[in-house]
Amino acid sequence: MIKSLADTVTLNNGVQMPGLGLGVFKIGDGSPVKNAVKAALNLGYKSFDTAAMYRNEEGVGEAIKESGTDRKELFLTTKVWNDEQGYDKTIKSFERSLKYLQTDYVDLFLIHWPIRTKFVETWKALETLYEEKRVRAIGVCNFYVEDLKLLLDSSKIVPVVNQIELHPLLTQLKIREFCRQNGIAVEAWGPLLRGNLDVPLFNELAEKHKNTKAQIVLRWHIQNEIIVIPKTVHPHRLRENIDIFDFSLDSEEMKMIDSLNENKRFGPAPEDFND
Ligand SMILES: NC(=O)c1ccc[n+]([C@@H]2O[C@H](COP(=O)([O-])OP(=O)(O)OC[C@H]3O[C@@H](n4cnc5c(N)ncnc54)[C@H](OP(=O)(O)O)[C@@H]3O)[C@@H](O)[C@H]2O)c1
Repeated sequence: MIKSLADTVTLNNGVQMPGLGLGVFKIGDGSPVKNAVKAALNLGYKSFDTAAMYRNEEGVGEAIKESGTDRKELFLTTKVWNDEQGYDKTIKSFERSLKYLQTDYVDLFLIHWPIRTKFVETWKALETLYEEKRVRAIGVCNFYVEDLKLLLDSSKIVPVVNQIELHPLLTQLKIREFCRQNGIAVEAWGPLLRGNLDVPLFNELAEKHKNTKAQIVLRWHIQNEIIVIPKTVHPHRLRENIDIFDFSLDSEEMKMIDSLNENKRFGPAPEDFND
């Protein structure tokens, strides 16, 4: 389990990935995303999760450049969008992401959704980029167990992560167990239930621990060894979301949170994006 914001998780290829980072979905390009990234850098965040589809890679790149942070200290994730899957289009999408991010490598490059007719071919492009050392690690998002099985059966490289919607109302036990058995780290998107934190148990535990509901939920994730990338544009929440290392939930409390699962999504399901 990570013990600080600086702590990392060792991926299956040996690369160290911060266990807590900032997600930037729905933060506008230009000053909104630049302000959020700069504020996060000032607080010590090292990991940033963007995507071609978020249309804010340029702002992320500018914020990093203007902050003067050494690129090697950072961990940048981006993703190829659905309409650019397939071998050649994926390489082109990657090259555009590099240009926007003002860097010559990406730490983690992900397939955004498992478009079933294309993802095996898309993955070959990711394997090429990895072999050419233009990315330090490659992975997927939103893959069900059957998608992962197909990928593992038809390719050389095992993904380092599967980034999925995951939180106490959607605990994803089946995918987590398959990933554990296959050395694939699990990364939660929507770790804060996309802000839908009004759950009585979160209130109760927040009062008990003198923390906030968001901190209770993030603590549950890290105690479960799940990588998290909570998104916020507010400096006080950027701080709140990393201030989770001075308390712990006991096993009873962890079980109570686990039992909230109702397979509830706050975002789309993989089948919403199939051809
Ligand atoms: N691979 C995929 O398909 C996929 C899909 C969706 C997201 N993602 C990634 O995962 C990241 C996180 O997921 P997400 O943005 O969907 O949801 P999230 O991080 O669970 O929730 C973000 C929401 O929670 C609010 N929030 C943040 N911190 C809070 C706090 N301390 N207290 C109360 N509310 C708080 C934010 O509002 P404010 O900004 O107003 O604070 C925002 O409305 C994304 O940004 C993106 O990088 C990936």
